[in-house]
Amino acid sequence: IRMVLIGPPGAGKGTQAPNLKEKFCACHLATGDMLRSQVSKKTALGLEAKKIMDQGGLVSDDIMINMIKDELSNNKECSNGFILDGFPRTIPQAEKLDEMLKLSEKPLQSAVELKIDDELLVSRITGRLVHPASGRSYHKIFNPPKVELTDDITGEPLVQRSDDNEEALKKRLGNYHKQTEPIVDYYKKTGIWSGIDASQKPSTVWKDILKCLGQ
Ligand code: AP5
Ligand code: ZN
Repeated sequence: IRMVLIGPPGAGKGTQAPNLKEKFCACHLATGDMLRSQVSKKTALGLEAKKIMDQGGLVSDDIMINMIKDELSNNKECSNGFILDGFPRTIPQAEKLDEMLKLSEKPLQSAVELKIDDELLVSRITGRLVHPASGRSYHKIFNPPKVELTDDITGEPLVQRSDDNEEALKKRLGNYHKQTEPIVDYYKKTGIWSGIDASQKPSTVWKDILKCLGQ
């Protein structure tokens, strides 16, 4: 499969992507996770990105496009397909992605939009806990780990993301509506868009995603 997951912060992209990865043996490329890994390694890019991410801003198109280009051409897991999560996030990113994929004659097959009202996202974001190394996410109430504050698989500690507060969320949502939502129309025009109600419980959202993909 070659697809993108579109949706505002907290819509469930990172929750559903591992299901897709397993079902289709594809790679899961989450640009937010990639940036956070640069932050924890304290690379020059990471230090620059951290300031922007903590304020709920967007990292530059050039940086993000190069990051995805690199992964798609060098990550062997991606040869079988990919699930993009958090990319593209602007029209220029969407256009560059199409250009890139055209060159390899492997165009995108599906763009699935996780649709949900802003009001439902505050509790999802402020209650989220993540396992930094894998990107797995939990929720204090909606999806608690088996042992409090501990990753189910590795037993390592869970943390709260530094941009998971109401103030940064407001900015992230503003950017989503202004910069990212236009890519929905972009994919509607190319005919690969489908949208689902992401306010339902995770297992129902998953079933709906499969339906969108004709499964
Ligand atoms: P990124 O990490 O992509 O953050 P985001 O887009 O804000 O999305 P989230 O990760 O917050 O939401 P999600 O949809 O994955 O939610 P999740 O499944 O975890 O990006 C972070 C930052 O990096 C950006 O702000 C930007 O600065 C930068 N960046 C990244 N990519 C970029 C790009 N391409 N260009 C420029 N800058 C870029 O779910 C959330 C919570 O809800 C969890 O606790 C989960 O357990 C719970 N939950 C999930 N589904 C349900 C459900 N159905 N019912 C109840 N609870 C649920
Ligand atoms: Zn995510």
